[in-house]
Amino acid sequence: SEDEVVNITFILSNGEKVPVRGKIGDNVLYLAHRYDIPMEGACEASLACTTCHVYVHRNFQDKLPEASETEEDLLDLAPFLKENSRLGCQIILTKELNGIELELPKATRNFYVDGHVPKPH
Ligand code: FES
Repeated sequence: SEDEVVNITFILSNGEKVPVRGKIGDNVLYLAHRYDIPMEGACEASLACTTCHVYVHRNFQDKLPEASETEEDLLDLAPFLKENSRLGCQIILTKELNGIELELPKATRNFYVDGHVPKPH
């Protein structure tokens, strides 16, 4: 229903803004795929690749649950890391996130090779 709609805007690496309609409970990675947003998601949301790296608009950062230790460790490996970096596959839409902007980084790196993730040092 309309009540469940969560409007979000992806900002592509060229600056183009793409508004999409998600719903409560949607995983941002799969929502992006549904709308052909170039968020790769090489490990299929199994927290092993960082290709779903996004920047979360600052007004919404504290509306997300804190990142798990595994997410933090992976983000440490991600190119172009910023203070508002998160992994898109770990963001589940809630009503509170209505209006959120998620920006894609200039590039991502895939650490998911043959199921092996290098340990951060
Ligand atoms: Fe691989 Fe998110 S899709 S960490």
